[in-house]
Amino acid sequence: MIKLGVMCSGRGSDLQSIIDAIADGKLEAQIALVLTDKPNVMALERAERAGIKNLCVDRKLCADQLSFEAKLLNELRAAEVDLVILAGFMRILSPTFVRAYKDRIMNIHPSLLPAFPGAHAHRDVLEYGVKVSGCTVHFVDEGTDSGPIIMQAAVPVLEGDDEESLAARVLEQEHIIYPAAIRLYVEGRLNIKGRKVCIV
Ligand code: GAR
Repeated sequence: MIKLGVMCSGRGSDLQSIIDAIADGKLEAQIALVLTDKPNVMALERAERAGIKNLCVDRKLCADQLSFEAKLLNELRAAEVDLVILAGFMRILSPTFVRAYKDRIMNIHPSLLPAFPGAHAHRDVLEYGVKVSGCTVHFVDEGTDSGPIIMQAAVPVLEGDDEESLAARVLEQEHIIYPAAIRLYVEGRLNIKGRKVCIV
């Protein structure tokens, strides 16, 4: 059974969609560990409620990025994690971390990449005035939101949308495609060829 390590920073609704997919028998994997970079966030409660090992590596209590990531890596290795899942994890990981789990880190981003990378996708989408947005699951490479794309879903941007209403519409799709993309990985159906991910 593939062991997942899910890393979050806040609410954890994407984490919940993975917990639910496993519970419903739609995803054959085990969440070995949930890690957060902040204390007292809802993601920790969700993990606790589901009986999943969880802990916070508080970035603010770490001297620097190197020691923060060393702690994360220690925990992931101790839990024998095969695939790292970034689920609303709002920190950029260094090339050292990415290399440690090369081609074994997935992220979900709330826009149709390569459009609107970064921490404020919905705000940027609304400011730009595009009519379609969505979400992207991709492998993490050493850039920001730039790795090979696994799956995307589109939603309309509606007249009168604000960040909250757009985020809610996009989240519905996130909760469908993230478990589905992880399932493809678990089934060994994702082949990375340069920038492209072939689904076999
Ligand atoms: C999700 O919309 C996810 O796509 C986004 O944060 C939200 C987390 O929600 N991630 C990023 O913006 C990463 N740059 P959640 O905490 O309820 O899962």
